[in-house]
Amino acid sequence: MSDWRPDSWRKRPIVQVPEYPDAAAVKEVEAELASYPPLVFAGEARNLKRELAQVAEGKAFLLQGGDCAESFAEFHPNNIRDTFRVILQMAVVLTFAASCPVVKVGRLAGQFAKPRSSNTETIDDVTLPSYRGDIINGPAFDAESRVPDPARMLKAFSQSAATLNLLRAFAQGGYANLLSVHRWNLDFVSQSAAGERYQELADRIGEALAFMEACGINPSNVQQLQGTDFYTSHEALLLGYEQALTRVDSTSGDWYDTSAHMLWVGDRTRQPEGAHVEFLRGIGNPVACKVGPTTEVDDLMRLIDILNPDNEAGRLTLITRFGADKVEEHLPKFLRKVREEGRKVVWSCDPMHGNTKSSAGGLKTRPFDRVLKEVKQVFACHKAEGTYAGGIHLELTGQNVTECIGGAVAITEEGLSSRYHTHCDPRLNASQSIELAFQLAEALKEEREALGASAAA
Ligand code: PEP
Ligand code: CO
Repeated sequence: MSDWRPDSWRKRPIVQVPEYPDAAAVKEVEAELASYPPLVFAGEARNLKRELAQVAEGKAFLLQGGDCAESFAEFHPNNIRDTFRVILQMAVVLTFAASCPVVKVGRLAGQFAKPRSSNTETIDDVTLPSYRGDIINGPAFDAESRVPDPARMLKAFSQSAATLNLLRAFAQGGYANLLSVHRWNLDFVSQSAAGERYQELADRIGEALAFMEACGINPSNVQQLQGTDFYTSHEALLLGYEQALTRVDSTSGDWYDTSAHMLWVGDRTRQPEGAHVEFLRGIGNPVACKVGPTTEVDDLMRLIDILNPDNEAGRLTLITRFGADKVEEHLPKFLRKVREEGRKVVWSCDPMHGNTKSSAGGLKTRPFDRVLKEVKQVFACHKAEGTYAGGIHLELTGQNVTECIGGAVAITEEGLSSRYHTHCDPRLNASQSIELAFQLAEALKEEREALGASAAA
């Protein structure tokens, strides 16, 4: 890695860059950020990589989720708590169904920068720069808000630090106690129409917990039932910010991006010779890459060569996002090639970004049944190719929003506007997320049983 430096991306072609009016002000902010303490420690990123290696080997499952875009306006402890809580609720269901550890990674504490399909947005006769996420400019449709402001990077850093601090407290301070999480799931099952049909599975989890308690295993004497490991991730899009938080780890001597445990490159910035891939190449964190309908097999193999040259399990996660109608056409060829070449990757499914459409009222939405369909298609493709569907990547919130249509408490197109709060893409709400976990549980259980059968044969 001798030719890599935290700033070597600056010599590469780059897309999705904001046009800051004052380059000197950007430099000043980046220098200030570079003097701040790290948000995460390299050792934690290595722990996550080890856990992801287990996923790559079919021994664990990855659950990654959170906001499409975190925002300054929605920054509130209750929002953080509720998103954390819904991820834990989903994880308990999945852990039980798959009988394997679930690695929990939030799109949280740093998920602020957004790639856009157009550099400008036009409403009536007015054209302004697109909103690129709160770390860059403001969402309001007026000229002043849309000017990129480097000071926003400092605010994003401090919001990330405060969010991470609360997440760490929740994860280890007693809030994540397994018995409480199970009680929240029982509430979901008993109090909502969405939950009723999952009574049986919830009862079985309850019985397992009662059995463990009878054997003397409970949260007061087993740390794993009292707390949990929870990791953070975001898209490494605003590279000046990421560079400023990239430091040499004194233990290993390697470079780590300390803005999050895991970083990914998005579908619009994954050019093998481009700046974003160059940046990710040199950091020691576990990294991920989106794979979409425009990805070519050769490009993907090149990306794997660049991002995981040592074929290290856990280093690279491939997040597929084709859309429910395109999975069968695209996914199998990638699975086959990667398997044939013996590349160790985690395959995760993002059933959100290929299933976005406009509602009749002009709001961006995602139908719950399309999301579910993509997940099921992905599992079916992996089964056919003999590969392991190791994870799921979701845009979700613990709030009771109305952004995706469908689910058991059917949200209709007309009902979307009542609580539509996202700053970017539509998210699953708490009930839709837990429902998805219960539905996914069945698919996972089947996958694990098939895996067990082939290992025994
Ligand atoms: C995202 O994950 O928010 C995103 C923009 O996804 P993609 O790069 O896959 O479009
Ligand atoms: Co999104």
